[in-house]
Amino acid sequence: MLYTALPDWAQTLGVIFSVMLWAPSWGGMINGLLTIRGAWNLLRTDPVVKFFVAGITFYGMSTFEGPLLSIKSVNGLAHYTDWIIGHVHSGALGWNGFMTFGIIYFLLPKLWKTELYSQKLATQHFWLGTLGIILYYTSMVAAGITQGLMWRNLNPDGTLVYPDFIETVVKIIPLYWVRALGGTLFLAGFVLMIINIIKTIAKAPSATKEESTLVQWQEISHDPEDKGHRRLEGLAPLFTVLAVVAILVGSVIEIYPTLNVSKYISPAVTTEPYTPLQLAGRDLYIAEGCYLCHSQQVRKTPDDVLRFGAASTIEDSIYDHPFQWGSKRTGPDLSHLGKKYPNLWHLRHMVDPRSITSQSIMPNYPWLLEKKTDFASLRKKLAVMKYLGVPYDAKTLSDPDVIAQAEAKVIADELASQGAQSGLEDRQIVALIAYMQSLGQKTHSKPAGVAQ
Ligand code: HEC
Repeated sequence: MLYTALPDWAQTLGVIFSVMLWAPSWGGMINGLLTIRGAWNLLRTDPVVKFFVAGITFYGMSTFEGPLLSIKSVNGLAHYTDWIIGHVHSGALGWNGFMTFGIIYFLLPKLWKTELYSQKLATQHFWLGTLGIILYYTSMVAAGITQGLMWRNLNPDGTLVYPDFIETVVKIIPLYWVRALGGTLFLAGFVLMIINIIKTIAKAPSATKEESTLVQWQEISHDPEDKGHRRLEGLAPLFTVLAVVAILVGSVIEIYPTLNVSKYISPAVTTEPYTPLQLAGRDLYIAEGCYLCHSQQVRKTPDDVLRFGAASTIEDSIYDHPFQWGSKRTGPDLSHLGKKYPNLWHLRHMVDPRSITSQSIMPNYPWLLEKKTDFASLRKKLAVMKYLGVPYDAKTLSDPDVIAQAEAKVIADELASQGAQSGLEDRQIVALIAYMQSLGQKTHSKPAGVAQ
């Protein structure tokens, strides 16, 4: 949202610098592969080399995909879909994971002065991990692109081809199973490594068990050979400076709009702070992890606006600490949820989403009917919000618990009159409903003539 508020030249600069960051990343990958030069024959036999080569390859792939995803049109398709989650996992599991495994298999025998317990087990770990991450990554990218394309698919008359969000959820469920299988294989490989570590340490000569940390690190490092790429490696200070410059410029571009945020706030709009009960509900929304599946930011893309309503503005989340824009839409965006459904609908949906949408994959939250709202902590919470710049008045700050209880009573009485159980006023579900109903209801245009 802030990013799109930037002038075009700044966005272009952002892309240029992300490509600049990408260049040293690929330099790192090429350097890594060159380092293995001369040892390629070991690729067939040595699990350490296998892990390193695969890890470096995943590194190259992730750092290519990162800048690719930063291009606006690619991001327009990928954002809020599983593609992003697939991308970070290919980095976390394929690159960081495999490099770590390679390093562990390399260091372990040296630190404990013994042979690795089983090369065969390590090789099996490698294949399980590789197969796992490939299934994991490809299924998530396929799910992401499928969902992204379904979201934006428009009929010739300009309406959405898939207006019900659940249609786009159901379509990718088979791919979630592939993802689960991939993750299980990766984990199974990891368990093999743990067994290998324990067995290797167990068979180490007993003296080294105590002195293992005293191992001479020099033994571990190998002969330096003075070949071409070593010269590039010797340029570490230069590369460090270039990388720092690129990171700093990128950071400034990100931080600049935040520091100047007041410039982007329209004087013709007012935003009301959350009431104490809504604030309590918002904390439950965060605590229950609802934000992991729901975004609160409608992008300016035609399909987002058609599906969820007016594009989000900076004023909508001005009092959100922390903001809830979200990173993934497993479920629909909730920016304009307030007043869309009656309170009783929310109660039923939260207790059992499938009683309303039979194919829903949202979890049940029955404990919200049992657990009590923490009214006592509201005074502190509001004080923190006030400190962060939310304009609460003195009365609200002094009695937020009393105000919240009165708000809760109104909702609970209404629910009871419609057939829900009575006495819900001190239960979490009521606070969460209050928050749900406030979404998108807080920003108003000032009546004409009001000066500020
Ligand atoms: C695992 C992902 C997931 C989590 C976690 C999750 N939801 Fe959902 N949610 C969904 C999906 C999928 C749908 C669409 C199907 C449906 O209506 O149940 C949905 C729908 C909704 C809707 C209806 C939106 C509309 O416009 O029709 C609301 C409201 C909602 N969720 C609130 C919540 C709240 C509150 C929480 C936390 C207590 C939560 N969700 C947690 C996946 C999730």
